[in-house]
Amino acid sequence: MDQYDVVVLGAGAAGMMCAFEAGKRGRRVLLLEHGERVGRKILISGGGRCNFTNIGTKAENFLSENPHFAKSALARFTPKDFIALVEKHRIRYHEKTLGQLFCDDSAKQIVAMLEKECAEARVETRCGVSVSSVRRGGDAAGFVVETSAGKFACESVVVATGGLSIPAMGATAFGYELAREFGHAIVEPRAGLVPLVFSVDDKARWCDLAGVAFDVVARAVVQEKARRKIPAFRERLLVTHRGVSGPAVLQASSYWRPGGEVSFDTAPGLEVFRPLLAQASGRDWNSAYAALRTVLPTRMAERWVRVRANASAGDWTNAGIARLESDLHAWTLRPDGSEGFAKAEVTVGGVDTAELDARTMESKRVPGMYFIGEVVDVTGWLGGYNFQWAWASAVAAGAAA
Ligand code: FDA
Repeated sequence: MDQYDVVVLGAGAAGMMCAFEAGKRGRRVLLLEHGERVGRKILISGGGRCNFTNIGTKAENFLSENPHFAKSALARFTPKDFIALVEKHRIRYHEKTLGQLFCDDSAKQIVAMLEKECAEARVETRCGVSVSSVRRGGDAAGFVVETSAGKFACESVVVATGGLSIPAMGATAFGYELAREFGHAIVEPRAGLVPLVFSVDDKARWCDLAGVAFDVVARAVVQEKARRKIPAFRERLLVTHRGVSGPAVLQASSYWRPGGEVSFDTAPGLEVFRPLLAQASGRDWNSAYAALRTVLPTRMAERWVRVRANASAGDWTNAGIARLESDLHAWTLRPDGSEGFAKAEVTVGGVDTAELDARTMESKRVPGMYFIGEVVDVTGWLGGYNFQWAWASAVAAGAAA
């Protein structure tokens, strides 16, 4: 049986980064990937340009049962550190919006960069190899990794098999199953950064507007004793053939729970109907529509007025106008569901951080076993945060494994 110091399971963002960090320390590293090539999600990320980090990354930009867990790794490997790597490889990049950094040319450059670093650190990479199990070694010190290409013995094993999103890209539940087998708790995985699907009634009301987009402030309405503050996101909403999408919706979706509601302020920071209060006459749907058209796309303004008029919401007293105004700032929907893992950009939940060392990502239950990247219960917002977590957690483990 071939013997390695470290076997890394999964050659995505986290696995590749961890492999060469450990390799640079002189560790003999084997990187295993069941897909035909490495870094497949990186290639499709950011519309093919990879939003590889966010310069404003803070622990507050992540969801986790333990919001403090990510702090240590994020503080020790920052966006600046990753930018230094990108610059070392002469990859040109730009800030698109809200601190999001993208390649000028192609996400392929990030994968090529990671491959080059792996080669320089003498990492042995094997694709098309599926890992089926990990057992403790005979002397209970190391591990035996069983794969479709035989068994490998190692001192340390790093689980970087990612989450459940986009099964077509190779996502498996392997990391969760392995963690469970070794006694780790799993925070129930669910689809995050995912479009939401309208109820039957809302589909009939809104879906023919598919393609219409506008700025909103979106927030998941969480009924359960809101232990944590649920953030609001000011970004674009896009009406789709089945529901709503766009960055604002994707962000809110990570906090949304089945059966719950999502609320949108469709005219953030504006008082649209207030001018009607100053008028004694002309308090009617025509005036409301004229006001609404200045803030929403025409088709959406038209529909909003029609839906409210059909619901006999037109009470042109001061109180009635105030109600219309507050309706506009709290368009509340109860989605039937989300588009699920097939369309989700990330998986929320994962290996519970309670039994992981925040400095090294090592299991407190199983010395020598590490969990990094998306398989861990740390999930970033949209905007480069998920890659920053992948890099930072990988470097933490790569320095210790
Ligand atoms: P990742 O999923 O990248 O890698 C896991 C690897 O393990 C895969 O290659 C898989 O094939 C392999 N594997 C699984 N089971 C295995 C087994 N049993 N044996 C062997 N190998 C196995 N984030 C961001 O910050 N900026 C962005 O622009 C985007 N854009 C984006 C677009 C799309 C369409 C998606 C789906 C996702 C994003 N993301 C993103 C999220 C980001 O891609 C994601 O968070 C990271 O890739 C997670 O990195 P990991 O290495 O943890 O998992």
